[in-house]
Amino acid sequence: MDLNGKTAIVTGGVSGLGNGAARRLMAHGARVAMFDVNRDKGLAAEQEMGDNARFFEVDVTDPEAVAAAVAAVAELWGGVHVLVNAAGIAPAMRVVSRDGSLFDLDLFKTVISINLIGMFDVIRNVAGVMARNEPDDGGERGVIVNVASIAAFDGQIGQAAYSASKGGVVGMTLPIARDLGPLGIRVMTIAPGIMDTPLLDAAPPELKEALGKIQVFPQRLGTAEEFAHLVHTIVENQMLNGEVIRLDAGARMPPK
Ligand SMILES: NC(=O)c1ccc[n+]([C@@H]2O[C@H](COP(=O)([O-])OP(=O)(O)OC[C@H]3O[C@@H](n4cnc5c(N)ncnc54)[C@H](O)[C@@H]3O)[C@@H](O)[C@H]2O)c1
Repeated sequence: MDLNGKTAIVTGGVSGLGNGAARRLMAHGARVAMFDVNRDKGLAAEQEMGDNARFFEVDVTDPEAVAAAVAAVAELWGGVHVLVNAAGIAPAMRVVSRDGSLFDLDLFKTVISINLIGMFDVIRNVAGVMARNEPDDGGERGVIVNVASIAAFDGQIGQAAYSASKGGVVGMTLPIARDLGPLGIRVMTIAPGIMDTPLLDAAPPELKEALGKIQVFPQRLGTAEEFAHLVHTIVENQMLNGEVIRLDAGARMPPK
């Protein structure tokens, strides 16, 4: 799909990987709506990015807010052509901690409701709007790019909830692509390795350097720009559909 004059929604769009994608899509001619719960960052990003970027304060776990915001974007810019689902959280906890306490079930449910159910809700609402687009010359109406994680495959100690949520994203990629294929909508998932984003802000430089060594080559953390580049490639290349791509420089995560 050619991005010129198109509209994109990016969840988690005001920070890290989502914001990298939002900026790249905008730089290639798209108008971008950033759905996020972080109001301060959202307003700052909107101001910095200019007229073709809008912040919508949306919690992806709130079905009414999601439906209203998707409808508002479609109304504002006359449709939605690209969706990048990058909103997510990654808290860690052991199933049984050293002090004997058990994994907090509410925390498990929260991770699943944001990373998996919230993502699905945005997908279904946006797909409903994409279905009304005029198809382009290639018969395409929309492209959806989800963000999973390599934790879907090699989850570490403490990542039961996070890995379950991202495994769900991996698992639903093909069936959603099959559902939406007849409408001319493609669905892909990126499974990033360790990326240098605000998610890792709390990590000391020594830890970041040690994490970099897990990669086969290059032995460093990935960047939001490299993630955005892959999003752009997926949007442009029509043969990419129903698949999960690891973006991890060959990393296979150890248990901890
Ligand atoms: N950084 C990494 O190493 C890495 C690796 C693999 C996968 N990922 C995934 O990439 C995605 C983006 O992560 P990031 O590293 O850019 O982190 P980030 O914290 O910089 O960005 C995540 C954004 O999601 C938003 N968000 C959280 N809960 C939300 C909700 N309920 N509704 C709407 N927005 C919400 C946050 O406010 C934040 O702006 C996440 O899904 C994460 O799991 C990150």
